[in-house]
Amino acid sequence: MPRGVFITLEGLDGSGKTTQIKRLAAWLTRRGQEPVLLRQPGGTPTGDRIREILLSSRSSALAPMTEMALMFADRAQAIAEVLQPALDAGRVVLCDRFTDSTEAYQGGGRQLGSAAVLDLHRLICGGLQPDLTLLLLPSFEASLARARHRNKRMETETGTDEGRFESEKDAFFRRVWEKYREIAAREPARVVLIEGDLTIDEVHEQIVESVAERLLTAAQKR
Ligand code: TMP
Repeated sequence: MPRGVFITLEGLDGSGKTTQIKRLAAWLTRRGQEPVLLRQPGGTPTGDRIREILLSSRSSALAPMTEMALMFADRAQAIAEVLQPALDAGRVVLCDRFTDSTEAYQGGGRQLGSAAVLDLHRLICGGLQPDLTLLLLPSFEASLARARHRNKRMETETGTDEGRFESEKDAFFRRVWEKYREIAAREPARVVLIEGDLTIDEVHEQIVESVAERLLTAAQKR
């Protein structure tokens, strides 16, 4: 059985990933390639418990190293339980965030550096890399305003408290932003950068174009 195709979506909180993942999943399903959906942190019963610790404002004393280790603990479980079996079965996997998020948020935002993240990635993920990463970077100000507004609304409507990252200072998100750009510049063959304040339809079109191209390459290799 040929390996499936592993696609990740990345970006700052409020970059529109969730909307785009839904639309891409629908597009793939219409083409007869219904994807396996995964998000990080989370996506497995153990991962959902780790997500709660990581995102709750009650975890205010979490040390940066603990945060990074928990992100990788979650990832190890997701790989073993969902990701690797799906790829082995030849499926398309759409994952909302992966190691690029750890490099951007913990490596950049928390200033632990890229080397520590990439070392852990090699050890824990066996170097498993996405075939394609779609990096959504609308303007910094728009993303941040959207993320903070969304978090307040979610707390009021559902009582879910996932505000620990959104309550970080602007300087933290600036560092995350810079690190994302650094990753895109370092790995242009894997990372497609979708920049600027585009409409939802425009972003979707760019995503579909990149995904169609990558699926074709994967099919030709078979
Ligand atoms: P989400 O709201 O897109 O699901 O993201 C959850 C938060 O977790 C988001 O603020 C980014 C953060 N995060 C990290 O800091 N490091 C990571 O490795 C991952 C996967 C997410």
